Amino acid sequence: MSFGIVRSPVSVPTALATRPLGSHEDPARIRATIARAPLFAALPISAIEDLTGRVAVRRVPVNATVVTQDEPGDSMFVIMSGRVKVVIFGENGREVTLSLLRPGDSFGEMSLFDGSTRSANCVAIEPTTLLVLSRDDLMRHVQSHPRTALNLLGEMARRLRRADDTIAQLALCDVNERLIHRLVGLAREEGSESPDGLVVRRRPTQQELANMIGSCRETISRAFNQLARDGLIIPKGRSLVVTPALIEKAERKKAA
Ligand code: CMP
Repeated sequence: MSFGIVRSPVSVPTALATRPLGSHEDPARIRATIARAPLFAALPISAIEDLTGRVAVRRVPVNATVVTQDEPGDSMFVIMSGRVKVVIFGENGREVTLSLLRPGDSFGEMSLFDGSTRSANCVAIEPTTLLVLSRDDLMRHVQSHPRTALNLLGEMARRLRRADDTIAQLALCDVNERLIHRLVGLAREEGSESPDGLVVRRRPTQQELANMIGSCRETISRAFNQLARDGLIIPKGRSLVVTPALIEKAERKKAA
């Protein structure tokens, strides 16, 4: 199996890029990000207020590496704005994308709970603003709010399901089927309704798609262009429309 080419990520020194909650950071926005984050769902207002006072804000430019695989971890992050990809770099500049994270999503918690090193790299793919919570503050919070531990178990279960799905796809499906599965998945995760189908605002590049499904850009390019010729997807500028016909095709394959 071959993966894609890596664009070299920029490392941002933590001390330079992290600012404690300062006068120009809007506490209301920070509070809203925490309240909306699935990790902190269903917490009492007092707990959200407490977390709001404890987090620091970090702004990172596009391509900045926030978390580096195999380094020790001492804090976790919640995305306030922007996007982050979770990625593992292989030999010869190849990479596999494990997940694309959006505002409200959190990352960097695994090494805090299992005491091991960072399990993957987390790289900003847009200018991104993060809330940073230290290990000590997270542990104190979880001890007084078991609800967060339940939320975390839910998130871990979802990740394991996705990983199971990916393993099954790699073992059982060809590249065309994996591409259709991923495009429909993206459309369901972040698409908005339109008369032609679900619109994915930021169309992933063919290299990014290759990195997501364990293929190479040339193969993806052929399969992608064929889907477009068949009218099953409609590239429109930087966005992509995933048609109901493609979604049905994916459903039929799943039922077969
Ligand atoms: P940690 O191991 O501390 O640092 C890397 C982070 O990437 C990890 O915590 C998780 O938050 C995140 N991560 C690792 N694997 C996945 C995955 N399969 N899906 C989503 N996020 C992941």
